[in-house]
Amino acid sequence: MKVKKAVIPAAGFGTRFLPATKVVPKELLPIVDKPTIQYIMEEVASAGIEEVILITGREKGSIEDHFDTSTELENHLRKKKREDLLKIVQEISGMVTLVSVRQKEPLGLGHAILCARKIVGKDPFAVLLGDDLIDAKIPCIGQMMEVYQNMEGALLAIQKVPRQETHLYGIIKGKKVMDRVYSVEEMVEKPEKGKAPSNLAIIGRYILPPRIFDILERVKPDKRGEIQLTDGLRALNREVPIYGYEFIGDRYDAGDKLGYLQANLSFGLKHPEIGSKLKKYLMTLFPYP
Ligand code: G1P
Repeated sequence: MKVKKAVIPAAGFGTRFLPATKVVPKELLPIVDKPTIQYIMEEVASAGIEEVILITGREKGSIEDHFDTSTELENHLRKKKREDLLKIVQEISGMVTLVSVRQKEPLGLGHAILCARKIVGKDPFAVLLGDDLIDAKIPCIGQMMEVYQNMEGALLAIQKVPRQETHLYGIIKGKKVMDRVYSVEEMVEKPEKGKAPSNLAIIGRYILPPRIFDILERVKPDKRGEIQLTDGLRALNREVPIYGYEFIGDRYDAGDKLGYLQANLSFGLKHPEIGSKLKKYLMTLFPYP
């Protein structure tokens, strides 16, 4: 079944980036010259998904503004004959149809997704987490939609991570059933150090059946009072198969200070305007081979 809708949770406080995120939502922090959430939106659009449901919280109105038309700015650029910038600005507002829903309390990722229930309706849908930026020739969610065509149930993006980092992720235990595809047998959200069932981590891209909503409604909050998507997935796995897909691409954790800087450097080095100058600059920092 074709995936036509994507849910992007963007309601978090961005505490890891304070004070930068006191007023500016973390989703609008730029990687070079584009807000992180625009990379996610471009991924969705280039995979052919037509509608995005943005889950927002307080003080997040500027995210919607970013994807809206800005008549004043457009008139200004027209007057200044900056057709190049005008095109960039106009493309953003035409990218996808955006619907936003408020998550009224910060009750976790599972709860954020539940907020999209009415708008998603009865078809399988995609979920993309804004902290995970994936640089890939074929957009990660597009790769997953291709794989999902021949399956039912749910599909999660996965990636091997170093053993000492497994406590930062949802971790699966699975059996390889095809090239890059694992059948998921077990899932644990952020296992204690040394207790992970493997080093296959869930990365923030999912294709989920609408049945997950009924399940998330019944999931009990964890110790921190949050409803975890991974707990919902574990219950879903008792009813339908869940698969993990090892995507092709480079992933950056833009929700982490180091990952954010790495993404900036990596995208900066590829940027047509500053790439070669940035490379020269970096070489001056490490002059000796
Ligand atoms: C979320 C999920 C986790 C997943 C991670 C990927 O955690 O709960 O299962 O591995 O995203 O980035 P978060 O990093 O939002 O705490």
